[in-house]
Amino acid sequence: MKMAMLIKRPNGTQDAVPGEVYKWHTVENVVRDSAEQFGFKEIRIPTFEETGLFVRSVGDTTDVVQKEMYTVSSTGDKTYTLRPEGTAGTIRAIIENGILNEGLPQKVFYLLSCFRHEKAQKGRLREFHQFGCEMLGAASPSADADTIALAHSVLGRLGLKNIVLNINSIGCPECRAKYREALKAYFEPHREELCATCQERLDKNPLRLLDCKSAEDQAIAKDAPIMTDYLCEDCAAHFEGVKKNLGIMGIDYVVNPKIVRGLDYYTRTVFEFISNDIGSQGTVCGGGRYDGLVEELGGKPTPALGFAMGLERILLTMEAQGCEFMEEKTCDLYVASMGEAAAAKAVEIAAAMRDEGFYAEYDLVGRGLKAQMKYADKIRAKYVIVIGDSELESGTAKLKNMATGEQTDISLGEGLLDDFGAQYYEMMLSTDDDFRSFVESFADDKQ
Ligand code: HAM
Repeated sequence: MKMAMLIKRPNGTQDAVPGEVYKWHTVENVVRDSAEQFGFKEIRIPTFEETGLFVRSVGDTTDVVQKEMYTVSSTGDKTYTLRPEGTAGTIRAIIENGILNEGLPQKVFYLLSCFRHEKAQKGRLREFHQFGCEMLGAASPSADADTIALAHSVLGRLGLKNIVLNINSIGCPECRAKYREALKAYFEPHREELCATCQERLDKNPLRLLDCKSAEDQAIAKDAPIMTDYLCEDCAAHFEGVKKNLGIMGIDYVVNPKIVRGLDYYTRTVFEFISNDIGSQGTVCGGGRYDGLVEELGGKPTPALGFAMGLERILLTMEAQGCEFMEEKTCDLYVASMGEAAAAKAVEIAAAMRDEGFYAEYDLVGRGLKAQMKYADKIRAKYVIVIGDSELESGTAKLKNMATGEQTDISLGEGLLDDFGAQYYEMMLSTDDDFRSFVESFADDKQ
């Protein structure tokens, strides 16, 4: 017999299989909730955009635009690119939908997939997922600190530890131009010793020299001039304001002059949250201010800032640190049956249970009773009802608590839902701490 060839997933992509997906839900629930606590509303944007959007915003000298974009040509002279990040499309959508006229600041968040043709390794994928936030129309240093505080809150609520917040200021176009010259003057005598990429960066984007991973280049960059010494008065005051506000919120940080970010739109504050627990790709969150981007993309001049977290890196760090994930939902009631009439009753009971909000299942593959019980065990059903001809006749069946093995009689008539609900409630009170404290807090409120 000819065997069909197995097609594997593309390099640098991941599957989230049902047994693992609850980990994603844990992170997604927390980020949505935290974003809403800080006043951010969700935005959804297309997976692909006109290529020019990324070239103009991310920048044509960046690695992302030069080497990593998945671009497809289309009919006519337009090309489209799978989004390598979420900021450009979000700002495009905000301008296009007139959202900046609805009162400022505007605060949006997104959960989306991004695509970069990078060399895949642990923590570096070709399709990855970001939770990101963008705040538009707030120029004050407290806006920077508040945005950083949201990222800090998410990491804390997920139980992550030892994540260091690195901050820097890369100034405005005026003060950065002077710094760029100072960097060029510093690196020029070392041109021949630099790696090929950095030789190119020296001409096009000297700030990126500070970010090179090569040990030789890092040694050369050790005594390079630092941006904070070149900040103009306004940029310096802004950076002091950000630090002061972080202090007020009790958020620890280190000032790291090597944080320059890999995307061109940034101005003033830039920051990264870095973990040491997942290897070389330890930046779990990166962001900063980008006061020129809205205007660059055709909107009215609007200060803005934001960040994005790499969800795969967050999950890797949570796993490495043994953080807790929310529990997978398990079946509340499995309705086992023997015989045709009982099978029909099982369908009816499961449907009624689902209408009440319970998770209920019954046999769909024609298994015998023993195999049905095995299946109920496998799906970790909390309760099983067994129905056969005699149960149909008497109108009463056995309800088995699968954790304790305890069996009680339960009426199959009108009282079924109420009786099951009462037993379920008692069981949850005695076994589920979260449920018990929820019920107790409700009772306290009523007193
Ligand atoms: P970014 O630093 O390019 O910034 O990406 C943000 C985060 O996405 C990184 O810190 C990392 O956790 C994750 N990430 C990036 N590339 C990969 C990859 N190949 N595999 C896995 N995870 C990755 C931005 O994208 C900006 N748009 C952030 C921003 C929003 N700045 C202002 N607003």
